[in-house]
Amino acid sequence: MQSRRKDTEPKLAKRVALVTGGTGGLGTAICHALADEGASVIVGFNQSADAAHTLADVLTSNSHQHHAALAAPVTNSAALLTLADEINKRYRRLDILVNCAGITRFVPHSDLDGLDDALIDDIFATNVRGPFAATRALRPLLAKNSAGLIVNISSIAAVSAMGSNVMYCASKAALDNMTKSLARALAPHIRVVSVSPGLVDTDFVKSLDISWRHEQVARTPLARLAAPAEVAQAVIAAATHFTFSTGSIFAVDGGRQLA
Ligand SMILES: NC(=O)c1ccc[n+]([C@@H]2O[C@H](COP(=O)([O-])OP(=O)(O)OC[C@H]3O[C@@H](n4cnc5c(N)ncnc54)[C@H](OP(=O)(O)O)[C@@H]3O)[C@@H](O)[C@H]2O)c1
Repeated sequence: MQSRRKDTEPKLAKRVALVTGGTGGLGTAICHALADEGASVIVGFNQSADAAHTLADVLTSNSHQHHAALAAPVTNSAALLTLADEINKRYRRLDILVNCAGITRFVPHSDLDGLDDALIDDIFATNVRGPFAATRALRPLLAKNSAGLIVNISSIAAVSAMGSNVMYCASKAALDNMTKSLARALAPHIRVVSVSPGLVDTDFVKSLDISWRHEQVARTPLARLAAPAEVAQAVIAAATHFTFSTGSIFAVDGGRQLA
């Protein structure tokens, strides 16, 4: 049997991708994976401007695309419109938006008083209103070439209701719901999917209690945590292989929901 011709051009050549929360544990891996596939990557930041510029420099030193670091504070809708103008000025297009920015804090689910209103509002403003506001601001650019993609980084906490606190779980459930509404509303020019990790082996997770981490691994059928690069590969797959999927929730959880 004749072997299939290998594509020489990277799969995401000439595409432009924005990753909000681009310097976080998962965001960094996603930026690297997108750049490796040939995309020009915009590392979106809120407070970590220096880290974002450093990451954009590293990506630039490893590839020929035009990477950049730009402010993408997802709770500031006016700033997101400025970001859209800047992307249009620099690139004239945006093909992929990865809504990766997110916050949480550990509060035991039974400690209702520990989850105060300010924290609840922060979680929802960042994890739910944020991806919506980014989508709203960047929709015209994403729709321009009729093949836009939005990847919302969710969590299996949306379904399992197990996670850092009750409202974090609820915020990810809201995000998955929004993925479906927006997939319907923005079709056929923009696809919208969620990538939904279980626990990922980021620096933040490494800093948590080791016996708790071992317990999580023991409850995961594939018997380990996800590597950030594995979550990033799900984002790449959504862009390159799952081209007829929209409104889908892709779990990257080692079967954790089965246990
Ligand atoms: N780590 C896990 O095990 C895990 C599991 C499931 C799902 N997730 C989800 O994956 C995403 C990334 O998680 P992570 O572990 O990589 O988190 P992380 O390392 O704590 O990074 C969080 C990122 O969010 C950004 N951010 C926070 N508030 C923002 C705002 N108002 N505007 C714009 N950016 C903001 C931060 O940017 P600055 O530093 O610039 O402020 C930072 O880059 C989150 O949505 C999280 O819920 C993570």
